[in-house]
Amino acid sequence: MSVARGKVVAGYGNMITASFDTQVRQNEVAYVITGDRRLKCEVIRVRDDVCNMQVFEDTRGIKVGDAVEFTGDLLVVELGPGLLGRIYDGLQNPLPELAKESGLFLKRGVYLKGLDRDRTWEFTPAAGAGETVRAGSVLGTVPEGIFTHKIFVPFNFIGTGKIKSIMGPGSYKVDEVAARVEDDRGNSHDITFVQEWPIKIPLRHYRERLLPEEPLVTGCRIIDTFYPVAKGGTSCIPGPFGSGKTVLQQIISRYADVDIIIVAACGERAGEVVETLRDFPHLLDPYTGKTLMERTIIICNTSSMPVAAREASIYTAITLGEYYRQMGLGVLILADSTSRWAQALREMSGRLEEIPGEEAFPAYLQSRIAEFYERAALVRLEDGSTGSVSVIGTVSPAGGNFEEPVTQGTLAVVGAFLGLTWARSNARRFPAIDPLISWSKYLDQMKETLDKIAPGWISKVRDAQRLINDGSEIRKRMDVVGEEGTSMADFVLYLKTEFLDSVYLQQNAFDPVDAYNTMERQVYSFSKVTEVLKKDITAKDKDEARNIFFRLTSLFRNWNSAEWKGEAFSQYERQINEFLGS
Ligand SMILES: Nc1ncnc2c1ncn2[C@@H]1O[C@H](COP(=O)(O)OP(=O)(O)OP(=O)(O)O)[C@@H](O)[C@H]1O
Ligand SMILES: [Mg+2]
Repeated sequence: MSVARGKVVAGYGNMITASFDTQVRQNEVAYVITGDRRLKCEVIRVRDDVCNMQVFEDTRGIKVGDAVEFTGDLLVVELGPGLLGRIYDGLQNPLPELAKESGLFLKRGVYLKGLDRDRTWEFTPAAGAGETVRAGSVLGTVPEGIFTHKIFVPFNFIGTGKIKSIMGPGSYKVDEVAARVEDDRGNSHDITFVQEWPIKIPLRHYRERLLPEEPLVTGCRIIDTFYPVAKGGTSCIPGPFGSGKTVLQQIISRYADVDIIIVAACGERAGEVVETLRDFPHLLDPYTGKTLMERTIIICNTSSMPVAAREASIYTAITLGEYYRQMGLGVLILADSTSRWAQALREMSGRLEEIPGEEAFPAYLQSRIAEFYERAALVRLEDGSTGSVSVIGTVSPAGGNFEEPVTQGTLAVVGAFLGLTWARSNARRFPAIDPLISWSKYLDQMKETLDKIAPGWISKVRDAQRLINDGSEIRKRMDVVGEEGTSMADFVLYLKTEFLDSVYLQQNAFDPVDAYNTMERQVYSFSKVTEVLKKDITAKDKDEARNIFFRLTSLFRNWNSAEWKGEAFSQYERQINEFLGS
């Protein structure tokens, strides 16, 4: 297809309207030529002989009459070895390298390749000349950190092909020709370690989607025990301003039992993003002892970067995730915050003068949210192995009002809802996930797996959840009638729920031991907590009851901070058992 050329005819914010000569298509990438700069844009609507494009850059200086070069290509990312450990913007420009190139203030119109062209990789072929291949066939592997990175026949390869030649074991750069493949029509293709894939099209080279039934252990007790998330599943963390969404995501990124973490920091304040960039590279991986960054990719767009790049960033993140899923790995995407992404959609829609839906969000907001979360999945790959992409997205509703369209649209599609509230964060009950509003469909969906981890697990958890609701009812009544008007039985029940909350739902992120609990430890300590909840506790008056629970709470808190099965651990456990036996 020949590519079109055009001219700028109008501009509005970071949206411009351009005329074109031949043909352009929806979501095609184009460049506006302004002075000596080429600014990247994406076509978002084509109408007769003009099209609307969103510019991924500051649009200052663009004039009516400026030339536009269309590319005929969709917005793509580069896939290949060397993605891990990198920090990119929403268009896969490596940020540290970009900063080196253009100084402290990023220059407009400077684009760098996503993958390093100079680095070499130790290639081991996995196929030979004469073999028949198709899209997604594995040509060989290179080690990337602790993983075996597969080199695939590009996923956009059409039909079948025959390997004409393939290079032997050795070290190569990503651009070198790894294999020559002839397709059905007799055309020869040079295949390198790099391939491109359009970010808005899901990478679906697998045999089937499977129902997620294995827990994704985050180390966070209230999540894993009460509102579990699944490998290949989706969850959201909505929470008002400052309720702890970002801290919670950081905790999860540190401890989640997945192979690869992709953090999409999307439209957060620059200061917060700088913190992520500064802290992340120093975090140690609790599983490998190396730095966490070696199995992490950060996609980062601050609120001061143009909206269009923000819109692209979550697609870039999920495409990279899908790529590693093809290698049979488990990937977790943490998107913070999807509200800023939705705001980008709203801004663009406003400029296109589309008919607005609720709160001026476009009418297609819900379907865009659904399309994004649907890309998460546990899949069976062509070779029979499985891989997963899980998504945990935060939502920041204005004023903490969960009735707004982004929260509601997300709620409708995710499998778990971990709602943070001010009530909890103001009371410094962290993580501020509110048990009164949160839920997870995975608790039942993963019943078989969970009951294998601990027999009768689900019913124990359900009992505790019910108890929390009862406790909250008693609390509300007590607020009206006071302690004197509350029966002893109700009062003890209330104290039990407070105890459960303090020693199990809350977790101290800054205590090296308490910050993270393995599933084994959760099962162990939850069963002790349950014993307390089930025990008949008698006291002569409310003060005595309060004292008993005060002692118990501090005992369990100390137990929580004690090294798993260490000396202190056993000591506190003995004291707990003494109480339970009394
Ligand atoms: N698990 C935790 N333990 C202790 N303190 C916490 C925890 N989570 C959050 N906080 C406190 O709450 C503050 C705000 O948290 P955070 O920045 O994660 O909120 P946020 O919901 O991401 O806010 P925003 O809406 O501004 O993005 C933190 O700086 C910290 O002091
Ligand atoms: Mg935040």
